[in-house]
Amino acid sequence: MELFCGAGGMSLGLTQAGCDVVAAYDAWPVAVENYNHNLGGNVARVADLTDLLGIVPDLLKLAPDMIAGGPPCQDYSSAGRREEAENARLTLAFALIIATVRPRWFLMENVTTAAKSATWREARTVLKRAGYGLTESKIDASRYGVPQSRRRLFVVGRQGERDGFLASAIAVAAAPTPMTIRDLFGATTPAAVYFPSTSEARRSIWSPDEPAPTIRERSIRPLPDSYKPHPDDAALVANGFIYSRPVRAGRGVRTVDEPFPTITRTAWERPTARYLSSPHPADPVAASETAVLSIPQISRIQGFPVWWEWRATAKRDILQMIANAVPASVAASIGRVILDRESGKTTPAIEGRFVRWLTTTRGRSPQSAWNVKSLAGRARHLLGGRTFAVPALELAALESVEEFWALKKNAQSDLRQALRLLAEYQAEGHLRHQKPRQMTTTDAQPLADAA
Ligand SMILES: C[S@@+](CC[C@H](N)C(=O)[O-])C[C@H]1O[C@@H](n2cnc3c(N)ncnc32)[C@H](O)[C@@H]1O
Repeated sequence: MELFCGAGGMSLGLTQAGCDVVAAYDAWPVAVENYNHNLGGNVARVADLTDLLGIVPDLLKLAPDMIAGGPPCQDYSSAGRREEAENARLTLAFALIIATVRPRWFLMENVTTAAKSATWREARTVLKRAGYGLTESKIDASRYGVPQSRRRLFVVGRQGERDGFLASAIAVAAAPTPMTIRDLFGATTPAAVYFPSTSEARRSIWSPDEPAPTIRERSIRPLPDSYKPHPDDAALVANGFIYSRPVRAGRGVRTVDEPFPTITRTAWERPTARYLSSPHPADPVAASETAVLSIPQISRIQGFPVWWEWRATAKRDILQMIANAVPASVAASIGRVILDRESGKTTPAIEGRFVRWLTTTRGRSPQSAWNVKSLAGRARHLLGGRTFAVPALELAALESVEEFWALKKNAQSDLRQALRLLAEYQAEGHLRHQKPRQMTTTDAQPLADAA
């Protein structure tokens, strides 16, 4: 279920990840119309989410596994006023709805400045009291499938977990380099892609908006001549430079080999006379020489697919819906991370400092410390990637796993001991110092690889 769904950027991504969005709500009829027109199923409804009594009984009946939402962010955003006002209270409404409906998971998106706000502190307390473990990750969209340097806060909550339980998996889902404008518009993007299947039971035609099947030798074919970029996209790449209206005194001109800055309602506007006469010193060419972005291009930089149709009489409304959205590929990445954890395919990384802690505060030899770390990892695999805020529940859960009882007695006590030590280490607050961007690709390895 999605709250504050807008035109559906986040729902589109979650659907691509494999979630089934059963209901979506937004107070803006234009956004709801665009959502239903493009995503189908009349899933979205117009509703004022400050009216908790009017909405919560319906949500309780739907009993969703997850509630997602990006409450309005103008009152936090660095582009807007800093004082927290009415809009920021909607973050609290989001938290109150979660605490009442109690889905297993929730996902919230907001501007990064929200993390330090008084309202988020209040909302966080509500969510903690309702029993959620929280992962608060600030991510850059250009590492998650769109050519846009858009930094946003994503908070993922799951009932009963330890805080930080998903941080390593979200970090590992990031691409090593940012996506560029050329990556998006320079590549040929056909409406369908042909990957010859290896069996008759499998399809061979794939959409460019889904992950490709496993590439085999016979999948590789020369690119047919008919695969040509759209002329506007080809012109954009040939020009090589784009102007984006700077929010403060920032640089206005970007090359197509960089990501675009954060899309805002006015990002597409042409340079003012003032900017032209006093350009940013780091601009690689004059702003007047840059390519002009079309609405379909802005929409795609924000992760909407080629087939997405915008419906509104005012261009301003279309730009507002685009600027509001969570890029679908970002939501898809996080949705996949959530589904993989839900199905027990990944486990949280155990940070290397645990080993140092074991040697310095518990007097373990380096060999024994590494052994404890690996046993704790094994226990987490047996727990299907779950962590528990309450250590006693963690041990009880371990003892309810059949595979655990198949082990020898001393192996069982080693696993219990390793989990206890890990819980003590975490209780001392070491997780707070974790830096997700420094994780390596082995941190959230699939269970099969790690076993
Ligand atoms: C940041 S946008 C969400 C965009 C959406 N997550 C997406 O990916 O497209 C916030 C949305 O909250 C909606 N909104 C504002 N006040 C609301 C209220 N009181 N009740 C319901 N929705 C509201 C706005 O209309 C806007 O579409």
